Amino acid sequence: MNSFASSSYIVSILLVYAFSPSISSSSSSLTISIFDTIRHPDPYKRLTHLATTSIARAKHIKNPQNAPNPTTTPLSPFSGAYSISLGFGTPPQIIPFVMDTGSSYTWFPCYGGTLTMPHEKIEDFLVGCSVFSSNQPAGLAGFGRGNSSFPSQLGLKKFSYCLISHKFDNTEKSSFLLMDAESDSGSKTENFSYTPMLKNPVGSENSALSDYYYVGLRKITVGGKKVEILHKDLSPDSNGDGGTIVDSGTTFTYMNQAVFDLVADAFSDQVKDYTSAEDVEAVTGLRPCFDVAGHVTVKMPELKLHFKGGAEMALPLENYFIAVSDGGKSFVCLTAVTDDTLLGPELVGGPSVILGNFLMQNFHVEFDLRNERFGFRQQYCS
Ligand SMILES: *[C@@H]1O[C@H](CO)[C@@H](O)[C@H](O)[C@H]1NC(C)=O
Ligand SMILES: *[C@@H]1O[C@H](CO)[C@@H](O)[C@H](O)[C@H]1NC(C)=O
Repeated sequence: MNSFASSSYIVSILLVYAFSPSISSSSSSLTISIFDTIRHPDPYKRLTHLATTSIARAKHIKNPQNAPNPTTTPLSPFSGAYSISLGFGTPPQIIPFVMDTGSSYTWFPCYGGTLTMPHEKIEDFLVGCSVFSSNQPAGLAGFGRGNSSFPSQLGLKKFSYCLISHKFDNTEKSSFLLMDAESDSGSKTENFSYTPMLKNPVGSENSALSDYYYVGLRKITVGGKKVEILHKDLSPDSNGDGGTIVDSGTTFTYMNQAVFDLVADAFSDQVKDYTSAEDVEAVTGLRPCFDVAGHVTVKMPELKLHFKGGAEMALPLENYFIAVSDGGKSFVCLTAVTDDTLLGPELVGGPSVILGNFLMQNFHVEFDLRNERFGFRQQYCS
């Protein structure tokens, strides 16, 4: 088994990041350096773990149980999620929290009720007590739409974050989470594309669906070709099921089976240069996977998301394919999951597409609550 943690390997990643021009282009083929592989003593286990936690997350999302100056806080990549450090209690105990736009409560092992932020203290901050803390980070910071969420309790007008690459998971590197409670003019942030932030049509106060940030995903293109997804799969129905949410707490993007099969097939149909790696698909639960042994760079069709209002998100290849080398084997897999990925029971209800954090690495994304819009621009976050 290879260790990927050699220092020369790390240098090659930095070189790729520092000197490659933006790999987003109008061309429908993108290039990824094969050296951008995941670093883990057991890459299969790592991939399977990421896929499993993404499915578990989708299950939780789909069946949920029922101002000061702008503050910037470091946002650290952590095992497929992102965390911030917050102080609670007197004196403050600094605890890492997973930053989670898919829930509106803040949970941590109970310490106390005063929240300490870099420039302020908030008394009587409402939190829940968690009993699980076997793993760091110990807490969950709910950035959802509910009125108990972080943004609500702090009176934020908007918050934004830049997701540093997961290659830096569990390292000292971090990016930022910006919390802005000042009213703003409604002007757009430079180079951002915006799409309206939608509410679930049936999300009443007591429905967890009302916590989620819905966006109007209108079209997906693979290699410039429209994936023929049925309209009903992209819009919430009269029960509030269906539609697309942005979720910082999800790692790999979830798509319901109808959407996933069309997207996966679009890649399988268009990729001719590599053979499919069915053994890897069987082990990891991801698909499609391709055998790329002997290739220094890999080209794949471009994946682009088209949102209501015309905003387009052209994704860098490393945001939707993951490259793994293990001994003589090299392969890449699409980093998306669906219901059948791990042979679990079908996930019914809730959003049909959950845009995860892996997709938005090296994007600066903004939740403009005042103007009810979601914005983004590609930006190197480290
Ligand atoms: C949150 O919403 C619920 C339901 O509408 C309401 O009862 C409660 O008072 C609200 N809490 C705050 C802090 O606004
Ligand atoms: C906005 O885009 C222009 C053109 O690509 C670029 O030169 C500029 O640096 C960008 N500004 C920011 C803040 O990203």
